[in-house]
This record gives sequence, structure tokens and C-alpha cells, in this order.
Amino acid sequence: MNDIVFALTVLRETGSTNDDLKAVLTSNITSDAGILNFHGYSELAFVQTAGHGRFERVWDSRYGGLYLSTLLFMQKLGQLNLTAVVIISSLSVMEAIEQFCGKEILKIKWPNDITAYGKKLCGILLQTIAGSPGTPVIIGIGVNVFNEINKNKLRDSAILEPITLKEITSRNYFESDIITLSNEILSRLNYNFKKADNGHYDEIFSKYNSRLLYTGEKIELFNRIEDGEKIAEGIFYGLDKNGFILIKSENLSEPAAYPSGEIKKI
Ligand code: BTN
Repeated sequence: MNDIVFALTVLRETGSTNDDLKAVLTSNITSDAGILNFHGYSELAFVQTAGHGRFERVWDSRYGGLYLSTLLFMQKLGQLNLTAVVIISSLSVMEAIEQFCGKEILKIKWPNDITAYGKKLCGILLQTIAGSPGTPVIIGIGVNVFNEINKNKLRDSAILEPITLKEITSRNYFESDIITLSNEILSRLNYNFKKADNGHYDEIFSKYNSRLLYTGEKIELFNRIEDGEKIAEGIFYGLDKNGFILIKSENLSEPAAYPSGEIKKI
């Protein structure tokens, strides 16, 4: 799926590709009159010195990983809301990674981690920038490709253990693979956002729902895992039509819907 050419800046090293895109937006480079496409500027870095993830966690970004951010202008995407952006971007990134390894081993941990064998292969950070023209969303994607992983430092122990593409596929990876994967991700994002905008969001939503990790299993829902504040506990039923997570607790006859949080398998 590489027939579209994207404007992509490739950097050897930067602080954070998400922060760089934020700086682009606040520099007034975009204006209401100037935004033509829903899909804007993209930046790829081979190293980040200040990579960050959800809930202000540090994203270890040493050489060998893919660190990519791209701008999306919601104003150009009709009816799609932020939940739809989470769903479309996760599915697109997973489909891109599928080009490198078996489809059956990849699952999405709600809301937007891509996992293999229950370990974290990729994280996605969406950031909205209030007050900027076009209602921009920065989609930041980190994939463990052939980076060395410091399992103690990388993430809190309560969160998923990391895994790399190299470990999964047992072959060598190079910078050229990171560029190929990055182009594949951008291409899938473009394809799926267009598709959703053309009235086929339901199809994307069902695919996403069918690939969720822990479906039918017992989970806990937290605001943020490290804080330990549990919101619910029960069997995971996937997402409802609004994109809310469905959990059936023992004391309820039907699953209840929750809009946000972080899940953990019991
Ligand atoms: C998470 O799982 O918490 C999301 C991690 C997102 C990391 C990516 S790497 C590219 C972009 N730049 C950042 O600083 N973060 C995102």
C-alpha cells in the first residue's frame, strides 16, 4: 500500500516528534484558509531524547525504534470524533505492522496499544491542540523495532512488558525498515481516515473490536494504573457503538459502559 507519497521529515535525533509538531502548529504556519487536507505534516526520528507517552510517562526512545508523529485536521473529517480517531489510528498502525509479522499474533490493548503475545509492541499518543486552526490532533506513534529494551526502566511494572519486532520475527532490522514501516503507517492512516470519512467507519470499528486483547477475560479498569484507583472489575465485552468500554461486573446483569481509563488483566 505504498502508492501515495507523503511529506515526511526524517531526523536523526530530536526531543520529541510530538513536541516538534506542536511547535509547527503554534508557529502559525497553518491558518484557517490554508488547510486543504485532513492529513498534514509528518516527522520521523531515529532517536528521541524527551519521548513521552500517555499519562506523562517517559517513552524510552533509543536508536532502533520508530518514533513518528503526524498531524490530522479534524475540521476536514466531517463527523468523526476523537474516539473514532483513536480507533482508526490504532487499526491503521496495526495493519501496517502486520506487513512485517503474522496478523494473528497482533492484538489491540484498549484503547490504543498494539501488542504481540500480550506484550507491548507499539504505543500511540494522541494530543489535541486547543485553539489552533483546523482542530488539529497530533498522532504520535512509537514502535519497538530493534531497539534494546531496558525492561526495568521502560515502563511501570504494572503496565505491559515491551517486545520488539526483531524478537517476534527473529531477523535483523535496519533504518530502511523503519522508513518502510513509517510509510506503511502513513499510507494506512490516509486510507482508513478517507474510508471512514466516506461513510465506512462501521467497518473499521468492527475490525478494531474483533482484534481487542482480553475480550471475554476478567479485567480491572483504572483511571491510571499506577494510581491504583479502580473504577470497575469484570468480564471485558469489547466496545459499544459509542466507543465506550463494556465491562460486566459480577453484581450486574448487563455490562456497563465506561468512556476512558486503562485496563489490566486480572
Ligand atoms: C504510550 O503508550 O504511552 C504512547 C507512546 C507514544 C510514543 C510516541 S513516539 C513518537 C511520539 N513522540 C513522543 O514523544 N511520543 C510519541
